[in-house]
Amino acid sequence: MIDMVKIIDDIPSFQDACQVCAEYGTVDLELDLKKVTQEEVNTVPLQTWHQDGSHVRYFPKYSALWCEMAEEDAPITQIISTRLPDAIAEKYLYEWVTMDFKKTIDEGSFYKFKKKSHARLYAMKANKTPMALVEADEKGYFTRWCPFMKDDEGKYKQLGDIILARDITTIEWKPNRLVIMENHATLHRRKPGTYNGDRVLWRAYIK
Ligand SMILES: [Fe+2]
Repeated sequence: MIDMVKIIDDIPSFQDACQVCAEYGTVDLELDLKKVTQEEVNTVPLQTWHQDGSHVRYFPKYSALWCEMAEEDAPITQIISTRLPDAIAEKYLYEWVTMDFKKTIDEGSFYKFKKKSHARLYAMKANKTPMALVEADEKGYFTRWCPFMKDDEGKYKQLGDIILARDITTIEWKPNRLVIMENHATLHRRKPGTYNGDRVLWRAYIK
């Protein structure tokens, strides 16, 4: 079991990284965005807090990134917990929400598509099925709240206020570092800013 994030160094290849990931569940490599490169970093300087895989049919419990290379001044990843105290979580049980992927595409706050047709395809494939705002696992309650969740009336503002006020855990990248995030109970983003250092990460989801 992983508590928020696990960092394992000296994993020599992505294949080895996937073997480690397999200890935590079924590894899925059939992803749209397998490789995270500097191009993505340069086109999105202010990435929104998000969970990986929100746009696909299932929601990965863990999300893993393995670092192939990272120069000095390479981008830094930030992560915060979305776990909730029982008293807060129980106020929002049985609420259903959806994500506004169009907003993230229009604002370019997640990924900048080179072609409009690619953005349209992404929006079309995006998961529009309502999801429970609050869920629980063996450790307790967590929420799917994130900045691009649809909340026109501000009904769930309290959750955002709680989560975004939390201490941020910082992950710096170096070659052969594997990071496994507890994706269902955290949000992450690239630390805002511009970076000169190149970095290549490989992604895997764990069901
Ligand atoms: Fe991500």
